[in-house]
Amino acid sequence: MEEIVAKKRMLSGIKPSGDLTLGSYLGAVKNWAERADQYECFYFMADLHAITVRQNPADLRRRTLEQLAQYIACGLDPEKNTLFIQSHVHQHAELGWVLDCYSMFGELSRMTQFKDKSAKNADNINAGLFTYPSLMAGDILLYQPDLVPVGEDQKQHVELTHVIARRFNGIYGDVFKIPEPFVPKVGARIMSLTNPLAKMSKSEDEDTGRVLLMDAPEIIMKQFKRAITDSDTENCVRYDKENKPGVANLMTIYSAVTGKSYDQIENEFVGCGYGKFKPVVGEAVVEHLRPIREEAARLMKDKAYLESVYRDGAQKASYVAEKTLRKVYKKVGFVAK
Ligand code: TRP
Repeated sequence: MEEIVAKKRMLSGIKPSGDLTLGSYLGAVKNWAERADQYECFYFMADLHAITVRQNPADLRRRTLEQLAQYIACGLDPEKNTLFIQSHVHQHAELGWVLDCYSMFGELSRMTQFKDKSAKNADNINAGLFTYPSLMAGDILLYQPDLVPVGEDQKQHVELTHVIARRFNGIYGDVFKIPEPFVPKVGARIMSLTNPLAKMSKSEDEDTGRVLLMDAPEIIMKQFKRAITDSDTENCVRYDKENKPGVANLMTIYSAVTGKSYDQIENEFVGCGYGKFKPVVGEAVVEHLRPIREEAARLMKDKAYLESVYRDGAQKASYVAEKTLRKVYKKVGFVAK
């Protein structure tokens, strides 16, 4: 007889406040797609989080749908993954509020992202920006996941989620499962093409070293041709992250899109300078992204399909989230409906 083993659960979200980059694809979404058979996966567009910074409503709406289309085009099969929009699952806002009451002012004040964002948005340091981590703790704890894949910058928030969950469990018993952050290995971290010491960021503007998933081939080629390689005299394609971070970053990208190892890449480019290497990487990226871009564009025209995906996703997510929320409401002493 076949043994039924419960799959481990995984959950993550991305704020629809900027377009997906090659970095978010190679560092996150591509790996997620490969895990669908192993884990029970939940992914959502974190629109509630996006409004902590002022958004243009029409842009936010469009970007949320584009993000869903791009997730699917990157291989997140809606039949295997639960894909939903955060604001469609009201339990997020509700648990977020409860957890606000179990998050301390001092803890929230110490969050690096809060400090950075309030410095950048000095005219809009709103309460939502401050309590962002409690909402994020709610996002996570609602689903009792085993793993939460996040970028390095979100690790502190997952750690605070532990603190909040333990505090709550300490008072009321085992309500929440304590999740583990999962930061993909360093190799998957794609850096800016013009500043290989900084992460490729979606909030950078076009002039800087960023490639968007939906960029046209000409733009991608232009970005790669002007990528910063290193000012060593060697002019040789060799993996040396310490001394040649620009070349190492290009090799990481090339390896991720072609599946070739660093050794194979070094051999392939023996005797070639950076001038020859850069456009080859650009072309490989263009070819790798082409089917994704075309599929995302096709899906954006099929609004009925996207709607069926996010409705279905919200329904499945609510079912799981409601169980946790009901338990929490009971524990804290709310009268049952
Ligand atoms: N804060 C995350 C980011 O900015 C997005 C996010 C919101 C998230 N809720 C989450 C990620 C829950 C993982 C789990 O990228």
